[in-house]
Amino acid sequence: MTVLEAHYDVALAEEIRALAAANNAVILAHNYERPEVQDVADYVGDSLGLSREAAATDAEVIVFCGVHFMAETAAILSPDKTVLLPDLAAGCSLAGTIDAEQLRAWKAQHPGAVVVAYVNTTAEVKAESDWCCTSGNAVEVIHAIPPEQDILFLPDMFLGAHVRRVTGRQNIHVWMGECHVHAGIDPEHIARTRAAYPGAEFLIHPECGCATPVVEAIGAGAVDAANVHILSTEGMIKRPAQSDHDTFIVATEIGILHRLRRAHPGKQFIAANDRASCSFMKVTTLEKVRDALKFRQHRITVPADVAARARTAIERMVAVGGTPGTSPFGPEDPGE
Ligand code: 13P
Ligand code: SF4
Repeated sequence: MTVLEAHYDVALAEEIRALAAANNAVILAHNYERPEVQDVADYVGDSLGLSREAAATDAEVIVFCGVHFMAETAAILSPDKTVLLPDLAAGCSLAGTIDAEQLRAWKAQHPGAVVVAYVNTTAEVKAESDWCCTSGNAVEVIHAIPPEQDILFLPDMFLGAHVRRVTGRQNIHVWMGECHVHAGIDPEHIARTRAAYPGAEFLIHPECGCATPVVEAIGAGAVDAANVHILSTEGMIKRPAQSDHDTFIVATEIGILHRLRRAHPGKQFIAANDRASCSFMKVTTLEKVRDALKFRQHRITVPADVAARARTAIERMVAVGGTPGTSPFGPEDPGE
């Protein structure tokens, strides 16, 4: 890692790197973090990649520049490490759509169903679940469950609709939660950006409110399936290198544009909705990362009994694949 351009306080970034070395700390940052926070991190990635890094690191301290459920997941995977969240206000509106009691009530209505929880959930909800998944491996996780088995998929309805479509399974019951940032990227944004950049390729996160209507538009012949890719954030980072296109419309949280532009300087990236910013991700600043290291704050721990029950579901998630992306239609679709 090098401390890069001077669009922020380089001295502060250097202080953070020195503190990280002195504390045997690793700094992990999600693709939606502020540019300067991404640049000071040792590893930037999607939820799946960050979980894997947290599980594998030799560092004693993990500074998690992401949101609360991600730091909790790291604390469960690495119970002997000190996991720090620079600002406790880094929550997640999607994780807030279901709690353990609601899940227990839902399970009681579907006895015997397998529970698949998206990683954007609290540790208590994971403790009630059989599997966790992320957008990077949700389809593979569903494929790992016997086809005759009913599935309760939570909490994101758009990701749920995506996995139902791709796997073709009818026995997936979906919780009606949503992320306010991704739900706010709607078909109108797609229509507008498509008109402005007619030759562009679409990179769409499956949490988006536009994902299902875009697939319907493909079905109706209005959009060419070859130009649409439904991807996790890390899948989006990889896709431009495999594509002949020069321009990409990016339907997810806008923090990812920094990394895309850095990784592919010859290509153009347009936000489908340039207001799609997650305020939870943006509460983490360089000053707070510095203070996290300096004062060892804010330590995230998970009660041992909850962690023990959640660990199996999380370890299953970490062990399963992680594709660069999934076809809008299904595994039989030759497009991917
Ligand atoms: P990824 O798992 O694709 O990084 O998406 C995560 C997300 O929405 C985090 O809020
Ligand atoms: Fe949660 Fe949405 Fe923010 Fe991701 S973008 S952390 S799902 S509120």
